[in-house]
Amino acid sequence: MCGIFGYVGKKQNAAEVILSGLKLLEYRGYDSWGITVRQKRNVKNEIGKFIVEKNVGKIGGVDLSSSIYRVDSTIGIGHTRWATHGGVTVKNAHPHLDCKNEIAMIHNGIIENYAKIKEDLIKKGHEFISETDTEIVPHLIEEFLKKEGFASAVRDAFNLLKGLNAIVVASSLSKQIIACKTGSPLVIGKSDNGFFIASDATGIIKHTRELMFLKDREMVILGDDVQLLTLPEGKKKKLRFEKIDWKIEDVDKGKFDHFMLKEIYEQPKVVRNIAENYTGQIKELKNLIDNAKGTFLIGAGTAFHACLAGSYFFSKIAHTHINTTVASEFNYLEDFLNSKSLIIALSQSGETIDVIEPLNHAKEKGSKIIAITNALGSTIYRMADYKLLLGAGPEKAVASTKAYIAKVALLLMLSYAVSGRVNRAKKLLLDASKEIDSLLDKKGISKIKKIASVINSSEHLYTIGRGTSFSTALEAALKIKEVSYLHTEGLAGGELKHGPIALISKGTPCIVFTPQDETFDAIISNATEIKSRGGLIIGVGPKKSPVFDYWVNIKDVSEAQIIPHVVFAQILAYYLAVQRGYDPDKPRNLAKSVTVK
Ligand code: F6R
Repeated sequence: MCGIFGYVGKKQNAAEVILSGLKLLEYRGYDSWGITVRQKRNVKNEIGKFIVEKNVGKIGGVDLSSSIYRVDSTIGIGHTRWATHGGVTVKNAHPHLDCKNEIAMIHNGIIENYAKIKEDLIKKGHEFISETDTEIVPHLIEEFLKKEGFASAVRDAFNLLKGLNAIVVASSLSKQIIACKTGSPLVIGKSDNGFFIASDATGIIKHTRELMFLKDREMVILGDDVQLLTLPEGKKKKLRFEKIDWKIEDVDKGKFDHFMLKEIYEQPKVVRNIAENYTGQIKELKNLIDNAKGTFLIGAGTAFHACLAGSYFFSKIAHTHINTTVASEFNYLEDFLNSKSLIIALSQSGETIDVIEPLNHAKEKGSKIIAITNALGSTIYRMADYKLLLGAGPEKAVASTKAYIAKVALLLMLSYAVSGRVNRAKKLLLDASKEIDSLLDKKGISKIKKIASVINSSEHLYTIGRGTSFSTALEAALKIKEVSYLHTEGLAGGELKHGPIALISKGTPCIVFTPQDETFDAIISNATEIKSRGGLIIGVGPKKSPVFDYWVNIKDVSEAQIIPHVVFAQILAYYLAVQRGYDPDKPRNLAKSVTVK
C-alpha cells in the first residue's frame, strides 16, 4: 500500500527522477500522488526551499513544464497514495509539511496513536491542513528540532509512533534524507549518482542493482554517504548492500498494452523454470514437512487459493493432511500451534500484513516457518526459517497471475516430492506449460475474446468446480471480478443446490471446470442443473459435453490442470476488463501490496 520514492545525489533534476520512480511504483497505490524537492536556489536566491506538487488520480501525462520539473534540485521525495485515514483529496496526498515548510515527509502504514499526538500538537499551536494520521509526523519533528539536530529529531519523533510504519523525511535545512521503519518495506539503492530509497526494488533498478533492504526497527541517513542505525537507540550498524539480478525489461510493459497481459504471457516460462530448476530446494522442504507434526498453508486472496489447491494436492497425491485457512483468520485458529508445527506462508509481495501477523504469533510459539514468496528480502522472506523464491520476476499488475501459477506449480512439485515421485510433477508441469502456450496462441486468444464478448454485459457470472477445481473456481471468480467488476462468484459444484442455484435465471453465464478426473460426472450434473434453469454453460476441460454452450478445450494434464484452467480465466478476466472499458492493471480500490489490516 502506498509507494515511496526518494533521491539524494548528483543528478540536478530530482523531480524528474522521482516522477519516473513513482510511475514504476504506482501499482502500490494510485488514488493520489505528490512530490517535494529541495530547491538549490530559488528566484529570490534563497537556498533549500521546498517546492511541492500534489495531484488526485493516477500519474497520467504529467506536464513537465510545471515549475517543480524545471528547478535545479538534488534532493526530493515522492509518494503514491492508497487512502487509509482521510479521503482522496489533494490536501491528504503526501508529502506533508510542518508549520514552517521546513520538514517534508512521506509515509506508508497507519499511526495508531495519531489522534492523541495531534491533540497535543494542536495545544502547542501547530496547524493541520489534512485529515491524515501522517501529518502529525512533520509537526512532531518540528517540535523536536527546537532542541536537537535533524537526525535525532526524526528518530525521537518516529519512536513515539505506534503501529507498523515507514517514513521518509527531507529537511529544507539539510542535504540529507532520513528514513525509519517498523513495518512496510523500504529498499535503498546505491550508485555513483547518489542514493535512492523506494518501497520496492522496481523503482530503483533502472539506476542501480546495488540494494539494501531495510529491516524493521532500522533508520537510514542518506546524503554524501549512507549510515544505518538501530531503532529506537540510534546505534550504528553495518551496511549490507547486495546485488540483485533483475533486468530492466522485467519492470517494463514491452510490446504489451498492459502489465497483466505481459505477465500472463510470461507464465509458460515461469512454469518451465520451476519444473526444471527446483528439485533440490523442493526436496529440502519435503524433509521439513516429513519432520513436522502439523503443517499449515496460509495466504491471502489469490495466494490463499493456491494454498487451497495445495491442500488438495497433498491429500490426493501424497496422502498427507495439510490444513489451510485464509491468513487473516489464522490468528483466531492457531492456539494449538507448538514448536513441532510448520507454517508454509505463501505471499507474492512478502509484505502482506494478514500473513505477517499470524507468523509473528507462530514464531512466539516456536513453530517453524517456510516462506514461499516472490520478493527477496521482504518481511516474510526475512521472518522465515526456510525461504523459497518463486522466481517469477517482478509482478506489476495489481491482479496476481504469474505468481499464483508459480505457487501452484511449486505446491504440486512439493506434494509429488512428499510421495517420492517428483519426476512425475516435472512432466505434468511441462505438459501444463504447453497447454498455456495453446491458450495464448492466436486461435486460443480469439476464442476467449469471443466468450468475453458474449458475457461482457451480464450482471452476474458463476464459476464452479469440484475437488482441485474448487480452488480453480474461486481463483477464476476473484480474477474476473477484481479487474472487470463483473460480479462473479466461485462455488463448489455441490454447494449450488444448497442456495446459490436460486440466482440462476435465463441466460445467466456459468463457467464449469470439467477436468478428466473423479469430479467429471458430478460437475456435469451440476452444469445440467444450471442449464435446466436457463443458464449459459461455458465448459473448460478436455472432454466435450452436450450441456456446454461454449467449450474451451484444454488437454488433460492430470492434477496440473489447475494451471491452464486458471490461465484461461486470467485471459478472460483481462479481455472482460478491456471490453468493459477498465484498466486491468489498476483496478479501483486495490493496491498491490497490502500492508495494513
Ligand atoms: C488478487 C491478488 C490478491 C493477493 C493478496 C495477497 O489478484 O493479487 O488477492 O493475492 O493481496 O498478496 P501477496 O501474495 O502479496 O501476499
